[in-house]
Amino acid sequence: MTDFAKKIMITGGAGFIGSHVVRLFVQKYPQYFVVNVDALTYAGNLENLRDVEMASNYKFEKADINDEKGITALFEKYRFDGVIHLAAESHVDRSIIDPLSFVKTNVLGTASLLNISLKFWKNNFDGKLFYHVSTDEVYGSLGADGFFTEHTAYDPRSPYSASKASSDHFVMAYHHTYNLPVIMSNCSNNYGSHHFPEKLIPLMINNIKNNKPLPVYGKGENVRDWLWVDDHARAIDTIFHKGKIGDKYNIGGFNEWKNIDIVYLLCSIMDNKLGRNAGESSKLIEFVKDRPGHDLRYAIDATKLHKELGWEPSLQFEEGLEKTVDWYLQNEDWVKHVTSGDYQKYYNQQYAKK
Ligand code: NAD
Ligand code: DAU
Repeated sequence: MTDFAKKIMITGGAGFIGSHVVRLFVQKYPQYFVVNVDALTYAGNLENLRDVEMASNYKFEKADINDEKGITALFEKYRFDGVIHLAAESHVDRSIIDPLSFVKTNVLGTASLLNISLKFWKNNFDGKLFYHVSTDEVYGSLGADGFFTEHTAYDPRSPYSASKASSDHFVMAYHHTYNLPVIMSNCSNNYGSHHFPEKLIPLMINNIKNNKPLPVYGKGENVRDWLWVDDHARAIDTIFHKGKIGDKYNIGGFNEWKNIDIVYLLCSIMDNKLGRNAGESSKLIEFVKDRPGHDLRYAIDATKLHKELGWEPSLQFEEGLEKTVDWYLQNEDWVKHVTSGDYQKYYNQQYAKK
């Protein structure tokens, strides 16, 4: 273990974005030892990391970030230099059904992780870093114009975004009060492989494939700013290594789309790939009851990250969406595994009433 230049705990590494971050760090930095700490909730899946699980610089540890004893034991065992914190409850619709589980993991879990990091690092902060992965949803909702910058005031409007905003405040409070070396980033909507099919893009792909209704909330006019998940992982890598301690960075692709336009685009890509007549899949679209408190528009200004650290997105949305559809069509077993059991229960509860 002493042979490694850094020992890094990545929380939530079995989830969608976390698995892409783990893969990038394990493959790009053989000199780092990466420990993936994940509770394996419904959203965590070790199948996401089959290709790196045997790597000699990688280890998985099943643990809940709220388990103070368990996480302390991992700090004792590995003597981490860095934490990249992604573990969270991440789905807005679930936060409306069960807000307190979001408070527990996202607020209390993050505070507990900060506390343990401080305990282990406070005598020598040199070379230590707590990197908190957050979301653009903390900034609230935009009208037709404007962008979220790093100076936009927080205005969270769902239990999910309120819990992430709270965790962001704790991260900065630990920096200002105790000098804990922290960095934070706030990213827009990600898409790509291994995305759990409760979120818009993978849910629509799965439903189109299975000829099921495509539930578009409200009129489908809400706008999200989409980023290829590996571009987010690259941004985290850049900020982890080159970012300024105590600072925060917005991450986004300058890539705004109305939900309904994405659904039509997916229908047309999939008509093509599944050998259906043009327009066939879009007949499945159903406009359903809107999400309560549905934020109208998110748009990230990622100029700071580009200018100061040189990061930029690599992929055009249409190309990325096509690659994403291909991945889901080629990985039917993965989809089958994650949509069995509890997924059906959630799906019925979320969509039956609509
Ligand atoms: P996800 O739901 O796919 O994965 C979350 C992971 O965290 C899962 O592996 C789960 O098992 C694990 N986890 C949950 N509770 C835990 C606990 N108490 N202890 C340990 N592990 C636990 O989420 P995601 O979409 O990959 O998001 C990852 C992070 O990035 C989150 O912090 C989220 O707020 C943030 N984020 C997501 C997006 C997006 O578009 N998905 C955009 C910006 C920021
Ligand atoms: O902006 C970053 C955030 O993006 C992340 O912090 C969250 O973890 C992530 O889940 C995502 O939140 P959204 O609420 O934007 O993503 P979701 O895929 O749930 O929804 C995208 C849009 O599509 C939103 O306007 C709601 C709409 N939608 C979603 C679902 C699941 C539908 O119209 N129908 C649906 O069935």
